[in-house]
Amino acid sequence: MCGIVGYVGSSNSLGVLLGGLRRLEYRGYDSAGIAIIDPAGALHTRKRAGKLQILIDDLETTPIASGLTGIGHTRWATHGGPNDENAHPHLGDDGKLALIHNGIIENFAELKRELLESHPDTVFTSETDTEVAAILVGLEYRRTGDLAEAFRHVVARLHGAFTLLALHKDEPGVVVGARRNSPLVIGLGNGENFLGSDVAAFVEHTRRAMEIGQDQIVTIRADSVTVTDFDGVPAHGKEYEVLWDASAAEKGGWSSFMAKEISEEPDAIAKTLLGRVVDGAVHLEELEPLADALAEIDRIVILGCGTAAYSGMLAKYAIEKWTRIPVDVELSHEFRYRDPILNARTLVLSVSQSGETMDTLMAVKYAVANGARTLSICNTQGATIPRESDAVIYTHAGPEVAVASTKAFVAQVAAFYLFGLHLAATRGTLSASEITGLLDELQALPAQLEEVLEQHDAIKQLAGWMTDTRAVLFLGRHAGYPVALEGALKLKELAYIHAEGFAAGELKHGPIALIEAGQPVFVVVPSPRGENSLHPKVISNIQEIRARGARILAIAEKGDASVLPYADVVIPIPLASTLFEPLLAVAPLQIFAMELAAAKGLDVDQPRNLAKSVTVE
Ligand code: G6P
Repeated sequence: MCGIVGYVGSSNSLGVLLGGLRRLEYRGYDSAGIAIIDPAGALHTRKRAGKLQILIDDLETTPIASGLTGIGHTRWATHGGPNDENAHPHLGDDGKLALIHNGIIENFAELKRELLESHPDTVFTSETDTEVAAILVGLEYRRTGDLAEAFRHVVARLHGAFTLLALHKDEPGVVVGARRNSPLVIGLGNGENFLGSDVAAFVEHTRRAMEIGQDQIVTIRADSVTVTDFDGVPAHGKEYEVLWDASAAEKGGWSSFMAKEISEEPDAIAKTLLGRVVDGAVHLEELEPLADALAEIDRIVILGCGTAAYSGMLAKYAIEKWTRIPVDVELSHEFRYRDPILNARTLVLSVSQSGETMDTLMAVKYAVANGARTLSICNTQGATIPRESDAVIYTHAGPEVAVASTKAFVAQVAAFYLFGLHLAATRGTLSASEITGLLDELQALPAQLEEVLEQHDAIKQLAGWMTDTRAVLFLGRHAGYPVALEGALKLKELAYIHAEGFAAGELKHGPIALIEAGQPVFVVVPSPRGENSLHPKVISNIQEIRARGARILAIAEKGDASVLPYADVVIPIPLASTLFEPLLAVAPLQIFAMELAAAKGLDVDQPRNLAKSVTVE
């Protein structure tokens, strides 16, 4: 959380910083601030509590001096509430240095105490851990007269996760950054260079990017970029071309980023499959580094958080069925604290849209340290989690800006399914023709999903009728269960309505007590076709709750007449087999949550208290 941007070049830095912050605002929106050095060498800062627009309005009313060097920050509060004082940048004690931070400095209280012992006159103007770092770097600068060196002395004393960026009025034309377990990338321009929490910060200006490794310090000037480790030993990051273009992260004519991103779901699946299905077989050359390990593994542990974890639950059903390898799915933040059993025959398969979620990153590092093999599924090129893993399968959903995840979910499931079918092919657990058939189903999904999205207006109308609803339940069985969980999560995240997802079979073991007259319940109804279909069981579950007064909102296969007598509303989806149906059933629930939130006048792209990329534990 927190978005960070830095710039040195020949343009007025204000426009670059505000443009970058606008694209990074998904990372946090409690407050925002900037610092600029003007051509005369004076340092100017401005920071305001609230969304970025409040800072922009303030800068329009009272303009700030222009300058060619600057840093900007958008905050998700950790230490200290979201007010003007706690907003970044924070200043060194002589007011000559400005510093911004993403992450948590765990030993800040101890450092603050030491600072007050050695410099009893120090005045702290905020409650943040960041200000301690700003004052320490400012003091070191006075001793060393070199910003990068001052950074080296301070970062060695910090515990926790951090990205720090600073500028100093005595070194105009320089921005220095450091990172440990928090994201930072370099944008390489002509006569200008950029730093950002991710490439969205600068993709408008350059698509040439460079990675910065763990525990490294970077110094940018208009015409140079220098990277060292924390000891000052020179390092060189990998350069790459950003595949997203700037317009992909624009809202276009849509009412919200989320509306746009849901509309892009068919494309997200299609692009994730592109080039990876060749002549009816899976082609994933990125798995090459793991080829030997994949032949040996006897267990898979999928790790993720939030929506990503639900995509992993779906993957479990598919991968176990197709490969007969046992798969566990765990929330990343629970995993490493319970002494999990790992060895070289365990594949830890992490899934993360951002590739920066701290809980998942730490779990992956734990898995590496304990001898497991690691693969990640990720939507963000060059992110930290894939870099810490043995191999990565990138989803190609394009930038996801709305805080709550939508199109990334379907792309993640598509990537998991490709992986499962690859493994089934190498293990010989499915025949070539079975694999071709399943790949055909996967490739049919984008067109089927377009059909589902045509019902947007009808779902919007339903949502409009339900703005006074206080609680909604979601039921599903087998592959419909993760969809129920995801539907409930979306409604909580976007509309702030109490929502629970249940496995329909579990209803009778407790949750049925929640049912009273008029209680809305979404039910993901499985296809009646196919052997061992759970359709009759779900119809029985519907009858049980209907008898107790529930209002049934069913998502059911087109033409499934058996559900009609019991449902108040039916949202039809195209015919698909059990494991593919969830990819069609989830969009109506996403649209429902989004439209209900919009009807309540809420900001669907930036729900309260959330951040898209959670880079604290
Ligand atoms: C946050 C977001 C969720 C997201 C989760 C995992 O909690 O609000 O929408 O599902 O992080 O994010 P990741 O980037 O790891 O997929």
